[in-house]
Amino acid sequence: MKSRGRRLRAAVLISGSGTNLQAFIDNVAAGRLDIELALVLSNRGDACGLERAKRAGIETDCLPHSGFPDRAAFDAALLERLDARRPDVVLLAGFMRILSAPFVAHYAGRLLNIHPSLLPLYPGLDTHRRVLDSGDRWHGSTVHFVTEDLDGGPRIIQGRVPVLPDDDPGSLARRVLAIEHRIYPETVRLIAEGRVRYADGTVLLDGRPLSEPLQFT
Ligand code: GRF
Repeated sequence: MKSRGRRLRAAVLISGSGTNLQAFIDNVAAGRLDIELALVLSNRGDACGLERAKRAGIETDCLPHSGFPDRAAFDAALLERLDARRPDVVLLAGFMRILSAPFVAHYAGRLLNIHPSLLPLYPGLDTHRRVLDSGDRWHGSTVHFVTEDLDGGPRIIQGRVPVLPDDDPGSLARRVLAIEHRIYPETVRLIAEGRVRYADGTVLLDGRPLSEPLQFT
């Protein structure tokens, strides 16, 4: 995935607040994550995450999807902007766009996402409310490789949190975010160290297929 002796180059795609991006920034600054944050790109100009990146001295780019006639045209432009920075991995961190098959195929095994549920439970949107409505005792988040199957790619790490009696979607979201800020940097660390990789639709950990995602609580 990267040439010997150089740090993994990561591009981070965001649409909003960027607290997961901030977790990457903080882990790199603290020396806990030895990667280069080469680019932060947003499809929204008002994304707070762009300010976080600028404050950290990371190159930023903004590509509003409204300027394109369709998804294919936007994704082609996005791919071109990203490839110009030669990322080893592309990290989706609250990027609120579905990516088309050619884009996903181009970055197969190098494209990761974090989704706020214990996949395969609750793919899609509004996960915290759906968990509360179902009366589940546990909730969490999953880091996975992205495939054409929306929120269905091979899972790497899951972080579990309890659902408490007084929770509302906001309190639950905050608890899930806190564990996301641990599991996403941890996943990227494992990839940067060459311990986790994607092969033929599965996750390999230290060369062996991972049948269930690693669990964090
Ligand atoms: C996170 O909950 C993540 O799981 C989902 O979008 C949210 C992004 O939050 N994909 P932030 O922008 O990183 O704060």
